[in-house]
Amino acid sequence: MKTPLIVRAALPSDVDAIWNLLEIYAPGGTVLRRSKEDIAFYIGNFSVAEYDGRVCGCAALRDFGSDLLELRSVVVDPALQGQGIGKNMVEAVIGGLRRKRSHFRLFTLTTTPAFFQSMGFEISAKEEFPEKIWSDCAKCAKFSCCDETALIIRQ
Ligand SMILES: CC(C)(COP(=O)(O)OP(=O)(O)OC[C@H]1O[C@@H](n2cnc3c(N)ncnc32)[C@H](O)[C@@H]1OP(=O)(O)O)[C@@H](O)C(=O)NCCC(=O)NCCS
Repeated sequence: MKTPLIVRAALPSDVDAIWNLLEIYAPGGTVLRRSKEDIAFYIGNFSVAEYDGRVCGCAALRDFGSDLLELRSVVVDPALQGQGIGKNMVEAVIGGLRRKRSHFRLFTLTTTPAFFQSMGFEISAKEEFPEKIWSDCAKCAKFSCCDETALIIRQ
């Protein structure tokens, strides 16, 4: 990569770019579909990766309380995948959490577990996160035939 990659907190002006990235994968069910209004409301939960002045990746946190958080909406522009952007972005999000909290359990549900394992996430059981199951999974068309793996990283 010729210019440096920047990972930063998302701004209200990033809503369209985040929506465009998520819409690449939402129709196939890889990430949850999110409206622009939803992204704008929760913009404080998002981080973005910026390369060459353009937003090329995003990741969001959801705080369930009791030190349990979910890492969600993790996407990198298909044209720039495989160059370390996703890893840099997620490690920056985890680094921010480590600085802010002495304890946390950060989980994710994904069809690409190897990506998260490369950063120290360990495979877990979905049943460990009933908060997620009852907020999102219960409404999912794939609830009874879920193809996602749960992973967790703790501090
Ligand atoms: C998964 C995704 C975010 C990874 O971003 P990326 O920038 O391409 O990944 P990186 O180049 O930072 O790869 C980091 C590591 O993960 C591995 N990895 C990345 N994508 C992978 C995949 N699809 N399957 C297996 N391993 C993968 C890489 O080999 C690399 O391993 P290394 O550190 O041992 O070399 C990106 O491919 C993407 O947007 N995919 C579609 C959406 C998606 O699946 N999101 C995941 C959450 S649901």
